[in-house]
Amino acid sequence: MIKPHGGKLISRIASQDEKEYWIRKSKELKSITVSYFDLTELENIATGLFSPLEGFMSKKDYDSVLENMRLANGIVWPIPIVLSVNKEVANELNIGEDIIVKSEEDRKVYAVLHLTDKFERTKQKEALNVYKTTEEKHPGVHFLYEQGNIALGGNVTLLNRIEHEDFKQYRFDPVDTRRIFSEKGWRTIVAFQTRNPIHRAHEYLQKTALEIVDGLFINPLVGKTKNEDIPSDVRMKSYEVILDKYYPKERVCLGVFPVNMRYAGPKEAVFHAICRKNYGCTHFIVGRDHAGVGNYYGTYEAQEIFDQFKPEEIEIVPLKFENSFYCKKCENMATAKTCPHGNEDHVFLSGTTVREMLSKGEKPPKEFTRPEVAEILMEYYMKK
Ligand code: ADX
Repeated sequence: MIKPHGGKLISRIASQDEKEYWIRKSKELKSITVSYFDLTELENIATGLFSPLEGFMSKKDYDSVLENMRLANGIVWPIPIVLSVNKEVANELNIGEDIIVKSEEDRKVYAVLHLTDKFERTKQKEALNVYKTTEEKHPGVHFLYEQGNIALGGNVTLLNRIEHEDFKQYRFDPVDTRRIFSEKGWRTIVAFQTRNPIHRAHEYLQKTALEIVDGLFINPLVGKTKNEDIPSDVRMKSYEVILDKYYPKERVCLGVFPVNMRYAGPKEAVFHAICRKNYGCTHFIVGRDHAGVGNYYGTYEAQEIFDQFKPEEIEIVPLKFENSFYCKKCENMATAKTCPHGNEDHVFLSGTTVREMLSKGEKPPKEFTRPEVAEILMEYYMKK
């Protein structure tokens, strides 16, 4: 099985003894409250999804990631994973202290942060280097500007898991997916990232990839997304119906990706690939404008970025796909690589067009999306 990024699957989840120790000790320790966004990042560090990270980044790693797309030790890592607080909170905390981390929402104790660094986040530089823009209308940049200015660096110890009511049967840690893949006897596994309801182009990429690997891991992102994106429960429903009707069950695994969306295009594609490698996947689908938003990134920039690394530095293989569409003359899904016909024969609908159709109660054509998925989307839009 493919090794996790950096060679070792990180686990920063406390044992029962450790948990009891920290809970007892917590009364003497300072505490901070963090948002749900930060809590999910913390849990993803602890489960090893963000291996080799063991905590929130230090200044050395942060600077190195912004400048070189690598951690200070040289391992490829494209985006900062930091815990931001405002100056007043940071001033109360000292390097070397163990800090209890509570949730803003329910004030419950979730973790301990072993504070080893405090530094000012260089937001303009971060915006430019990660998102390629300082414009606040970019959703990732907007979110970045809202964060506190001081980053707290240090390893974490997770004491309690976030409790979820949704997608319970689809929540797998990297240790779980690694076990599942190996039990299924899969040696090559392709991962598919998505933040949208499934459409025919997605299905085409997945099934084309499935022709050459043992298994498909469909891994829809269910962390924070921007408001206009379709909610994750609706998206998951679309996956359930389509898997039931159109996919070979024994060759597919569906699991949610509990990670927040950044809309950082190319850099996020590398990040997405690394996380899927940690799940045990050997291949990763990167299509047109992966993790993009607006016109901030070139159509294939998220594919080209992988050429900057030696294959052994990333190891998981990006499977790069061109813009896919249904061609009326071919009577098939295709790309410019396989279809000689012109745009007039191609069914390609933008997200905006589809949203407009749905809000008017019109059903998107079956060349674009399967009727079963169209029904789910129409129902959602009608309720909205
Ligand atoms: S993303 O933000 O998660 O990338 P989305 O769910 O739309 O958005 O895309 C999931 C994956 O499918 C990405 O790799 C994206 O590049 C790819 N993709 C989506 N639509 C197409 C298409 N029509 N042709 C080729 N690739 C596509």
